[in-house]
Amino acid sequence: MERKVTRREFLKVTAVAGALTAAGGTGLAFAEELEPIQLPKPQMEGGRPLMQLLRERKSVREFSSEKIPLQVLSNLLWAAFGMTRPDGKRTAPSARNWQETDIYVASVDGFSLYDPKAHMLRLILKDDIRVMTGTQPYVKDAPVNLVYVADYAKAGTSPMEEKDLWSACDTGFISQNVYLYCTSEGLNTVVRGLIDKPSLAKVMNLRSDQKIILAQSVGYPKKA
Ligand SMILES: Cc1cc2nc3c(=O)[nH]c(=O)nc-3n(C[C@H](O)[C@H](O)[C@H](O)COP(=O)(O)O)c2cc1C
Repeated sequence: MERKVTRREFLKVTAVAGALTAAGGTGLAFAEELEPIQLPKPQMEGGRPLMQLLRERKSVREFSSEKIPLQVLSNLLWAAFGMTRPDGKRTAPSARNWQETDIYVASVDGFSLYDPKAHMLRLILKDDIRVMTGTQPYVKDAPVNLVYVADYAKAGTSPMEEKDLWSACDTGFISQNVYLYCTSEGLNTVVRGLIDKPSLAKVMNLRSDQKIILAQSVGYPKKA
C-alpha cells in the first residue's frame, strides 16, 4: 500500500534539512551529529561472466526484507559509480566528465549520500524514507532504494536542454551498472521513473538546480 508522507514526518525531516541548510549553506548539508559510515573496501575481483549477466539481466519488482550486508552495499555503490582511476574517473562515463550524478541511499537505517572519493555514506537523515522514493507499492519492501540526483551546478554553463539530456544519459549508465552487479550477486532490482519528485525533493531539501532523475530498488528475492 502506498502512503503519503505524514505531517509529523514532513515537519521532522524539513526541520532537520532546514537546520542543515542554515548551518551548511546550499541544499543538503551533512549533519555534524550524524556519523558518516565508512564502507568496507569494495571487492573488485570476481563476479559472473559478462555475457551471462547480459542474458539474465531483468527488472524484478519483488523483494524480501533481508538486509543487504554492508560489504554488498559497498560493492554495489562502487559498481554503480565508484572511482576507478587516480584522476577520479568512475565506473560509468559522464558527459564532459561532469560526474554530476549523486547517489542517495534510502534504507531502514536512514538516508545517506554516497561519497565516492572517501567511499563513505554521509548520513543525512536518520529516518526511513524508503516509502517516499517511489509511488509503487513494492518500493517500501526493498531494503535499499537508490535515488539518482543530477547536480546541475556541476554541469557548468551548458544550456538546460543539454543538461537535461546528458544527465538522463549519465544516470542510465549508472543504473545499468547496478543491474549487472545485481544480476551477478543474485539481487533483484528495478529502475524507476515513477516518483513523486516534488515531494521527495522537498524532503531531501534539494536546491532548484538538483534534479531527481530516477530511483532504483534493490534487494534479495523473496524466499519461495
Ligand atoms: C527510464 C526508465 C524508467 C522506468 N520506470 C519504471 C517505474 O517507474 N516503475 C517500474 O516498475 N519499472 C520502471 N522501469 C522498468 C521498465 O519497465 C523495464 O525496464 C521494462 O519493462 C523492460 O523490462 P526489463 O528491464 O526486465 O528488460 C523503467 C525503466 C526505465 C529505463
